[in-house]
Amino acid sequence: MSSKKRKKVKSKFTKLFKPNLSVRIGRLLMKNPVMVASGCFGYGEEMSKFYSLNHLGAIVVKGTTLEPRLGNQLPRMAETPSGMLNSIGLQNVGVEKFLKEKLPFLKKQKVPIVVNINGKTKEEYVLLAKKLDSCDDIKALEINISCPNVKEGGIEFGSSALSAFKIVQAIRKVTKHTLITKLSPNVSSLQLKEIAQACVEAGSEALSAINTVLGMAVDLKNYRPALRSTTGGLSGPAIKPIGLRVIYELHQVVSVPLIGMGGILSVGDALEYLLVGSAAVAIGTGNYINPFLAFEVVNGINEYFQTNQIETGSDFSNRFKAWDDCKL
Ligand SMILES: Cc1cc2nc3c(=O)[nH]c(=O)nc-3n(C[C@H](O)[C@H](O)[C@H](O)COP(=O)(O)O)c2cc1C
Repeated sequence: MSSKKRKKVKSKFTKLFKPNLSVRIGRLLMKNPVMVASGCFGYGEEMSKFYSLNHLGAIVVKGTTLEPRLGNQLPRMAETPSGMLNSIGLQNVGVEKFLKEKLPFLKKQKVPIVVNINGKTKEEYVLLAKKLDSCDDIKALEINISCPNVKEGGIEFGSSALSAFKIVQAIRKVTKHTLITKLSPNVSSLQLKEIAQACVEAGSEALSAINTVLGMAVDLKNYRPALRSTTGGLSGPAIKPIGLRVIYELHQVVSVPLIGMGGILSVGDALEYLLVGSAAVAIGTGNYINPFLAFEVVNGINEYFQTNQIETGSDFSNRFKAWDDCKL
């Protein structure tokens, strides 16, 4: 057979091969593994002008609290080499307004909705989870115990296994929703593993990681920190190696699905996260750089799986070989 003919047959076969990209995490059933990360996609209204949101696996909405919050004082964003530093401080409309004004639009998009929940105290997390429990349009709650930009709550709960256990356990008792706990990279490897195991033991059906990495930028001209809050959370390509390491480590110690994020800017970045053990990925800062990115990553993963005859995400991650497993 001539090489031209062979290519034609191959491309016909590739088109026929349909990978199964679907991912299930409890009640959250996604048609593909591409989510958009909390705080980087608003409530989807602006982004729906670029593409139909039902192409996505799921949307994780902005961190939601019981009461509306204005967030931290300006300046609260700074550009850094290969990254972005923010200290937004969980500015959001509050749960009542979210349910009344934001959810109706999201419902129409026919894409699973995950609500990222936050509280200053354990009681606030519990009240918020209770309020959202009766809403069947929500497919999962992502418990944010890793925000580095708020004085109370956030990372305070996510930096010890005991406090993480208590928060997840208390929320588990009051909701039927699927629970995903979002972990911080701002702890040691040992703490990370202990915290992850504690969250799963307390009833979390999945883990997501990473939230932003604590950092600082300096405004040299004015002899002061670039951010009003002095420190902030670093996101974007600069943190991808940290995100990959965290997912790799979590994959060694828990068997629940992992949602990998941190610096995904291309199809290749997303594939790397899937290879080291993520069941799904989430795109954050990348949405600001290229509003079509999540849509392109969905298509790119599908194409890659087709070309390489990979049927499912777990078939793909089974191909991963750590150096210590390699029999060379
Ligand atoms: C401006 C901004 C706001 C964010 N807000 C939230 C939030 O409300 N809740 C949360 O869990 N994570 C929040 N994050 C963290 C992201 O969801 C994501 O975990 C992190 O940015 C790493 O992914 P990336 O490098 O792709 O942005 C925010 C990140 C940014 C940049």
